[in-house]
Amino acid sequence: MTVIPPVGLGTWKASPGEVINAVKVAIDAGYRHFDCAYLYENESEVGEGIQYKINEGVVRREELFIVSKLWCTFHKKSLPGKDNMPLDHTGMVIPSNTDFLETWEAMEELVIEGLVKAIGVSNFNHEQLERLLNKQNLRIKPITNQIECHPYLSQKRLISFCQARDVSVTAYRPLGGSSEGVDLIDDPVIKRIAKKHGKSPAQILIRFQIQRNVIVIPKSVTPHRIQENIQVLDFELTEQDMNDIFSLEKNLRLATFPTTENHKDYPFHIEY
Ligand SMILES: NC(=O)c1ccc[n+]([C@@H]2O[C@H](COP(=O)([O-])OP(=O)(O)OC[C@H]3O[C@@H](n4cnc5c(N)ncnc54)[C@H](OP(=O)(O)O)[C@@H]3O)[C@@H](O)[C@H]2O)c1
Repeated sequence: MTVIPPVGLGTWKASPGEVINAVKVAIDAGYRHFDCAYLYENESEVGEGIQYKINEGVVRREELFIVSKLWCTFHKKSLPGKDNMPLDHTGMVIPSNTDFLETWEAMEELVIEGLVKAIGVSNFNHEQLERLLNKQNLRIKPITNQIECHPYLSQKRLISFCQARDVSVTAYRPLGGSSEGVDLIDDPVIKRIAKKHGKSPAQILIRFQIQRNVIVIPKSVTPHRIQENIQVLDFELTEQDMNDIFSLEKNLRLATFPTTENHKDYPFHIEY
């Protein structure tokens, strides 16, 4: 059975020039999980960093869990060409009309052929996940549902739904990202709890997910932050800390993918 390492390195917006070093630092710091996507335009450089550490003998390929993603435009193609995210004349993403159950069958083949170890979904709401799990002749269950998750969007219902069905959850944007006007890292409640434990606010935000059995993929290209973000197994948040963090809920979704709102499977039209 594939086990996903609980803390992975996010790579979105990590420039190709920076990400090679970030990956090397991360492997030295103990990361064994890398979250990537064709759309991030830096997968080759992530691979370069990994190859470097394999050649150095620091890590073996089979110890690593490396994620890639198939964007909704490409459900009929296996290897997208140069046109990264085709848009129509109004600037909206031109989606694929493929039924995602059909896409899933193609992805199952990848596991059966030994090309990938595991398959999962991202940004699925509970109805979509249910539809996939109820698919006739489902051969392989999704290993995880990767969703936006942090104290301002704690995703209690969707997480319970997934975990009750043995689908793990991976929290993306766990630190609130670098969105303007949102400063989760500076939230007074997070800062107070961080001070109490002698940890950084980022470590509190990451530990919060781990204590909910949620896998978490903070992104950083800054060596000391990369190291800090995985040092989260030597302390524990109290029940009171967890409740205080849950009380920050604002139902604030930061990643809304506005250019895909017309897609037939746009997942955020329903509550969870
Ligand atoms: N499936 C999806 O649709 C989806 C969508 C969004 C993201 N993701 C994945 O999830 C990953 C994480 O989400 P994200 O990148 O949006 O946001 P995030 O990890 O919440 O935040 C990243 C930001 O936090 C900063 N940071 C990292 N560690 C820090 C620390 N210890 N103290 C202070 N600041 C810190 C980073 O700066 P520096 O890098 O400058 O250090 C960066 O600006 C992505 O990289 C991507 O792999 C997936």
